[in-house]
Amino acid sequence: MSTFWSWYVTLLTVGTLLALFWLIFATRKGETHKNETEQTMGHSFDGIEEYDNPLPKWWFLLFIGTLIFSVAYLVLYPGLGNWKGVLPGYADGWTQVAQWQREVDQADELYGPIFAKYAAMPLEEVAKDEGALKMGGRMFATYCSVCHGSDAKGSAGFPNLADNHWRWGGEPAAIKASILNGRMGMMPAWVQALGEDGVQQVAAYVRHDLAGLPLPADKSFDLQRGAQIYAGNCQACHGAQGTGMAMLGAPDLTKPAGWIYGSSLVQLQQTIRHGRSGQMPAQEQYLGDDKVHLLAAYVLSLSQGQQQAR
Ligand code: HEC
Ligand code: HEC
Repeated sequence: MSTFWSWYVTLLTVGTLLALFWLIFATRKGETHKNETEQTMGHSFDGIEEYDNPLPKWWFLLFIGTLIFSVAYLVLYPGLGNWKGVLPGYADGWTQVAQWQREVDQADELYGPIFAKYAAMPLEEVAKDEGALKMGGRMFATYCSVCHGSDAKGSAGFPNLADNHWRWGGEPAAIKASILNGRMGMMPAWVQALGEDGVQQVAAYVRHDLAGLPLPADKSFDLQRGAQIYAGNCQACHGAQGTGMAMLGAPDLTKPAGWIYGSSLVQLQQTIRHGRSGQMPAQEQYLGDDKVHLLAAYVLSLSQGQQQAR
């Protein structure tokens, strides 16, 4: 701020405060109980009249209190032009950024050693440590539950992390890599290559032959043709038996419990027709390795002891 504007702000603020001090004393009429009168202000609103009496003392003191507060505030905090304030603990004056940095530093000092301790332990062990899981669970609620749900059970388009179905692998290292580096599933769109009829036949094949789910009785499907299309176009990613490929994030098509885009015939057709591209955002830059380590341990602990459903 230039010197002119600094003085402009300062004089305006101080001047206003002084004027308020003057106003509150100049219009003061003394103690209520001594100076009470029957005199009115002389105006009437629909027959209601106002007595000309002093302010109650507590009210008057409240005004004084606010004035003292503003003086103290303007001394401690930067409010008067270029004045930086003298709040203890802030060498260069208080700012929001400085306060935030102070709190981050304090938290790092407090929790840094705890994170470091867990970071040095293998994931499988951290996943059994009650204190670590508590911290991981709280971080999960903050950073992950928007997409994966507060119970980590996912929703349409977002995988369930509390079961034993993994798109990118369920080994400790794979889970950590998913969180650290993020993941992007690329399921191509097939309607151009296969035509609408091809999409319908291969969708029926996936639902019936791979996933073992029933097809509507009132329609007929050419499952043989579906199988051929699958062998020619899909098995490179989803595997010859349809059991998926973790390296590509291609899900196991024999286990619909792990699917995220739905298993109805209509949903399957939609997935195959237009493709899908789910994105797990990378957390390394944002949270750092130590926090991700705890989160990975927490996620790992959720799936342990879960049965694999079809
Ligand atoms: C290039 C590799 C690739 C090919 C080829 C491919 N897929 Fe996929 N598919 C994927 C990936 C990766 C995903 C996961 C997409 C995501 O997570 O967003 C996926 C997802 C799916 C899903 C959704 C599963 C769910 O979770 O809801 C179905 C169904 C599917 N593919 C069927 C097929 C069929 C049928 C074909 C052949 C016509 C095929 N895919 C060919 C890679 C492929
Ligand atoms: C913006 C939404 C979003 C947020 C936030 C998010 N995820 Fe994800 N995550 C996804 C999606 C979508 C996928 C599936 C990617 C795909 O299609 O393959 C995924 C996949 C994963 C996977 C791999 C699952 C598998 O089956 O292999 C893990 C592990 C995971 N997330 C953990 C986390 C953790 C831990 C956090 C919190 C730090 C988090 N995610 C935050 C959207 C999100």
